Amino acid sequence: MASDEDQAASFSAEQYFATQPPPPSLEADIVRVQEFVLRQRAAKRKVVLVTSGGTTVPLELNVVRFLDNFSAGTRGATSAEYFLKAGYAVIFMHRQFSLQPFSRHYSHSTHPFLDFLDVDAEYIEVKSAERPQLIEVLKAYKQVQKAGTLHSLTFVTVNDYLWLLRAISKELYPLGRNAMFYLAAAVSDFFLPRQKMSEHKIQSGKGSLHIEMDQVPKILKPLVEEWTREGYIVSFKLETDNALLIPKARAALARYGHQVVIGNELHTRKYQVVFVSPANGKPAQAENEEELDPSKFSETWLRIDLAVNPAKEIEEDIVAELVRRHQTWAADSS
Ligand code: PMT
Repeated sequence: MASDEDQAASFSAEQYFATQPPPPSLEADIVRVQEFVLRQRAAKRKVVLVTSGGTTVPLELNVVRFLDNFSAGTRGATSAEYFLKAGYAVIFMHRQFSLQPFSRHYSHSTHPFLDFLDVDAEYIEVKSAERPQLIEVLKAYKQVQKAGTLHSLTFVTVNDYLWLLRAISKELYPLGRNAMFYLAAAVSDFFLPRQKMSEHKIQSGKGSLHIEMDQVPKILKPLVEEWTREGYIVSFKLETDNALLIPKARAALARYGHQVVIGNELHTRKYQVVFVSPANGKPAQAENEEELDPSKFSETWLRIDLAVNPAKEIEEDIVAELVRRHQTWAADSS
């Protein structure tokens, strides 16, 4: 039975969708997702929804200023490539202009495209040192294009994100246990409802600015309980204090009842993460994190040694571990 707190949380998600308008492109986006999912079901492929990048919170209707959430999209874009390699079809829902699978190898800031080309009269050629990697990336990219296993769509604001997540999860519902949700996006916790937004650019010159924001509903709750009852749900927990990772991850599992929380600390996230899961069934909730029974959870650390293998990406191991766990989950229809 749902507690009062649970009812309040799911009511606020409903309230959110009842009061905040959908993005204008939602219908067209979802038609394309429907077509993609139909093709993947016919091919009997598992489908993973990867969310990636940070959401924004606009402060004005004619938006000049906004709050942003930290995420370059590396985790999501890199993981999407490894899911594709593992045979999954991928819906890549990402922040506009954040990193994307394949093209991420040639990001304008870290590896600019123009720097690895040479020009001789009218001929352009790729510098020989760059060729081996480009060939590998290009082959994988072309293969995915031919197979039609990657579908990308974008969000900018937290409102776009919430509407898209709800609509896509409903499209994935018929896949049952063959769907996975890999929620790597950094989602705003506070937002300014449309009804409270200034229409035009907020004017300066009146002293300090005071804005009261509302809390974004915790969307994992309806995702787990209503929108997808059988999908394998992986959420992320980002902290700047390693000691908080496991207690916060356990609390999220007890609150939402999903399958895995991957904990990562801001500065070490590229070489170590922790998988936290329920040891056996849904753990009971507690008033505070310290009261949660540790025996109800299991923790597995994944670490890579970048000094030994600097080219290794931890997402390769994260995805391999999830593919293994999802396989077991999908096979267990009880
Ligand atoms: O892209 P990179 O630069 O590589 O960085 C990757 C990352 C550090 C951003 C990524 O690995 C990560 O940790 N993403 C989640 C960060 C985050 O938003 O944490 P959170 O504590 O706010 O949310 C925890 C989970 O709850 C998330 O999976 C989120 O999808 C979910 N959530 C959040 C807010 C909300 N209103 N509803 C939610 O369901």
